[in-house]
Amino acid sequence: MKAGWVGAAAALAVTLTAGVALGQGAADVIKARQQGYKAQGAAFKTINDELKKKDPNIGAIRSSAKAIAETATTQYRWFPRGSGPESGAKTAAKAEIWTDAAGFAAAQKAFQAEAQKLGQAAASGDLKAIRPQVGATGKTCAGCHNKYRVKT
Ligand code: HEC
Repeated sequence: MKAGWVGAAAALAVTLTAGVALGQGAADVIKARQQGYKAQGAAFKTINDELKKKDPNIGAIRSSAKAIAETATTQYRWFPRGSGPESGAKTAAKAEIWTDAAGFAAAQKAFQAEAQKLGQAAASGDLKAIRPQVGATGKTCAGCHNKYRVKT
């Protein structure tokens, strides 16, 4: 799963630096973005699953939290103009991401702040610090989804 995440991230980086003039490329950008989020969802699930166990695997929590914190930095490149619903490609990204760019940037920033704290808490290995920070991070996922992602 770790290798999968790295692969998706690498593919995303290549796609996003290569395709500024979107057009046909929009579908690729969207697909890469969705893969990035899928990996992020899987990493977040790994953490939650571990925390439900009697003896959580700190190593798994740590690597997943690190992946999420890294995504929090790369996500800023995932939304080039033209990669929204107007592209005609299948995407759950709402047009508001671009029409309310300041609001969306604030949602990205809120997520980044909490994801970084999650990475730090996981690095410390202290479950008492990790648990509440998973909740705080999850709130910023939902906060963005509620406003900027089409409900599926
Ligand atoms: C700043 C906004 C934002 C934040 C923060 C955010 N997401 Fe998302 N997420 C989106 C958008 C927009 C999409 C739809 C992407 C598309 O379809 O093009 C999405 C899609 C997804 C998907 C579906 C991917 C697929 O298969 O198509 C998952 C899973 C997901 N996000 C999980 C998460 C998790 C977990 C977090 C927090 C750890 C998170 N997201 C934080 C905006 C956000």
